[in-house]
Amino acid sequence: MTRPTDLPQWKALEAHFDAVKDLHMRDQFAAEPDRFEKYSLQLNDILFDFSKNRITDETMQLLLDLARVCDVEQWRDRMFAGETINHTEGRSVLHTALRNLSDRPMSAAGTDVMPEVRSELRRVKDLAEAVRTRQWRGASNQPITDVVSIGIGGSHLGPLMATEALRPYAIHDLKIHYVSNIDENHINNTLEVLNPETTLFIIASKSFTTQDTMVNAETAKAWLLRKIDNEADLTRHMVAVTANVAAATAFGIAPENIFKMWDWVGGRYSMWSAIGLPIVISIGSENFDALLAGAYAADEHFRSAPLAQNIPVIMAMLGIWYNNFFGAESIAVLPYDQNMHRFPAYLQQADMESNGKCVDRAGGAVNYETGPILFGEIGIASQHAFYQLLHQGTKLVPADMLAPVSNFRCIARHHRALMSNIFAQAEALMRGKDEVEARAELQKSGMSAEAIDKLLPYKVFPGNRPTNIFLFYTLNPQTLGSLIALYEHKIFVQGIIWNLNSFDQWGVELGKQLANHILDELNRGTPVDNHDASTNGLINYYLRMRPRRIG
Ligand code: F6P
Repeated sequence: MTRPTDLPQWKALEAHFDAVKDLHMRDQFAAEPDRFEKYSLQLNDILFDFSKNRITDETMQLLLDLARVCDVEQWRDRMFAGETINHTEGRSVLHTALRNLSDRPMSAAGTDVMPEVRSELRRVKDLAEAVRTRQWRGASNQPITDVVSIGIGGSHLGPLMATEALRPYAIHDLKIHYVSNIDENHINNTLEVLNPETTLFIIASKSFTTQDTMVNAETAKAWLLRKIDNEADLTRHMVAVTANVAAATAFGIAPENIFKMWDWVGGRYSMWSAIGLPIVISIGSENFDALLAGAYAADEHFRSAPLAQNIPVIMAMLGIWYNNFFGAESIAVLPYDQNMHRFPAYLQQADMESNGKCVDRAGGAVNYETGPILFGEIGIASQHAFYQLLHQGTKLVPADMLAPVSNFRCIARHHRALMSNIFAQAEALMRGKDEVEARAELQKSGMSAEAIDKLLPYKVFPGNRPTNIFLFYTLNPQTLGSLIALYEHKIFVQGIIWNLNSFDQWGVELGKQLANHILDELNRGTPVDNHDASTNGLINYYLRMRPRRIG
């Protein structure tokens, strides 16, 4: 199999990079008044402006040539057709079936998954509505006031991100809490204000073996049993979402309280499945349907839009341009919407667990850069924290900025100021401030020529720093669904270009294996000498220092 870097299309991009790398976007904008119209696309209420990128028409042409020759369209069709494209785990990749609102069957290993998907969604909605309408009662016949979702990674970040993002749609008299960390502080802090008689736990784990989740689930069960005498009554307080029904049953979850997921849904792509139960409880079935509809709209766009108008394809290829030609090592995701504060963390898993890989589909070591380091935070907060590096640091950090044109409870004074910041930051990153401008500014302030000469270098901004801007009308369920699905497909396309399997995650195994082994040693409590000197030293120090009462 040809490596992407050996393709003539890759070589053409390398040559093109040499030709355009010194172009400044400021000059490009001056020369191309239609750059915004040319380089922006719309999907329903989402405007995607990619004009502030270091691209020319030829760049886009060459990037799309690369996408074409890497068979992006064929791989996309194979994914939707349920082929076993997750070859290292022998699985289809069908999270798109979870939001397939058409009558089209979708098959994994020759079986149409849609009937099961629909019936499981029905069960999820039934439970959610029973909780929301106070028909679901705890053991002492009280309605549920608090739902605690216990899970981690893909069984946690999606529901957490979405319930936060969709706060304006949340039911008021029910609180949704999340516990992910095995650190007892997390569950202790959560449970200390809750009443077992009015609390419902969702144990969310595809494998139902993840240590963090299982330890927290045991603690939750013990906490319930302090108040609920009869173990059979736990059925009123614990449900599970898993692909491992046997393990959930063995844990003591009643069969009617187990919601199924399937091996063809990757954890980090699973918020559309029963893993989304906390979202449905929070925002209700209709709004969850709107979330699915938004994702479905993005799926249809990805399936049918020509590459040159295909938003996830363009997002992906711009990422390839910076990652593999400019040598950018990271990307920043910067929502200008407080409710999207967990969006970067969600994308961090989606992107880095998918494409953080160094072995290609043929089992060979890659000789090129793959997935970038994705980081991010709320844009406004980041301006006062790490934007300094984005503006004047030595690293090129392409950034995605996202903002709503309006808010659910919009206060014009706040919102206009917010929007002025996103526009200003993207403009500043693009234009920068050259010496002439910086000098003129300092002169205007009345500074002496000598002082100006000293300060001038610090006042110059190189600019030419790329941003993508997503503007959407308001952050409603449909828009959120579309945004997430666009990113999912972007990640998919990049995985195809890098010739990776984006759907396995073997890299998380080693640490888990070692932790299990070391846990046995900590339980034994006797000094160890079978690790390296540092690990032995740390374990033995811990064993000596830990308070006796922990045991
Ligand atoms: O450790 C990584 C991981 O396997 C993720 O891929 C997954 O989303 C998370 O753990 C949780 O796994 P599970 O849902 O099986 O508990």
